[in-house]
Amino acid sequence: MKAYKDKVFATPHLLKRPRRLRSSPAIRDLVTETVLTPSDFIIPLFVHEASQEVEKVESMPGVVRHTLSSLIDECRELFRIGIRAVALFPCIATEKKDVGGSYALDGGNILNRAVMALKQSVPELLIITDVALDPYTSHGHDGLLRSDGKDVDNDRTVEMLCRMAVLQSRAGADIIAPSDMMDGRIGAIRTALDIAGFAETSILAYSAKFASAYYGPFRDAVGSKSAAGGSYLDKRGYQLNPANAMEAVREAVLDEEEGADILMVKPAGPYLDVIRAIRRKTLLPLAAYQVSGEYAQIHAAARLGWLDLEKARDESLLAIKRAGANFILTYFAKEMVEKLSRQS
Ligand code: PBG
Repeated sequence: MKAYKDKVFATPHLLKRPRRLRSSPAIRDLVTETVLTPSDFIIPLFVHEASQEVEKVESMPGVVRHTLSSLIDECRELFRIGIRAVALFPCIATEKKDVGGSYALDGGNILNRAVMALKQSVPELLIITDVALDPYTSHGHDGLLRSDGKDVDNDRTVEMLCRMAVLQSRAGADIIAPSDMMDGRIGAIRTALDIAGFAETSILAYSAKFASAYYGPFRDAVGSKSAAGGSYLDKRGYQLNPANAMEAVREAVLDEEEGADILMVKPAGPYLDVIRAIRRKTLLPLAAYQVSGEYAQIHAAARLGWLDLEKARDESLLAIKRAGANFILTYFAKEMVEKLSRQS
């Protein structure tokens, strides 16, 4: 009896050793819970008409403002390597911006022309178009301002967004993505599309879009920051308070009820809890947008030698998928798809 006791307690009394499952590459692979695959990624792309040059976006290494023709070449290449969908954003020349964002309703504006050209040259690539007024307004807000200039006028903005969405569908967009956060816009756009004969066009709703500091580099890219005179654009009257997860879920539930096909959380990395909470609440596919600032901070730290670019990139994306996102909009999409296809 004594001998038995001695034997048991002589070794550390650890029946459970989770490290067994981490002891070799083979076992680690076997118990991996989350895997990134090439079809997880959608790439946001910028197109401009200010010049015939491809312009670098300073705060987003590797990201450019395309010309129409470089956009087409790039999309051919992206489709060839396995990217299935692109999200297009226009960068509008300052002379074309006004308080009412009127260029948004021009069926021949740069965004609509880009959609038409892409549908001709890469017909199978899914085209996602942005519905919001910020690239087109001289003040940089996503909607029309009320007459006192203090806030965005919800219902007048929604009317415009509906017309924008119909024009984009007519140009050939497969998925309409309202990023404006006006109340009731999903239901209104769904109705407008159906009436105009675009029942097949899907809606990807930016359901939980937060008033975030992480949009900075994007605002450089589309010029909404300089439109606002370089000062910080305060969108707290329509974008969500970063403190509120329940309110974010409520927005997602409303968008589902109003007829959204896909829901989205944005930014992604700082809002993993929100991704998880919405994932539990809906049966719809859920996207997450790893925004410009999330991309820029990884690049900036890597440039200083403070982070390993590829490792930080992979981990940031894995975390978003682990939280519950079904797919991810990210400026890393091309390099991720290239890397993942090399591995498989
Ligand atoms: C606004 C819009 C924003 C982004 C896409 N559309 C943010 C904003 O200016 O409020 C941000 C995307 C990014 O940062 O990558 N309609």
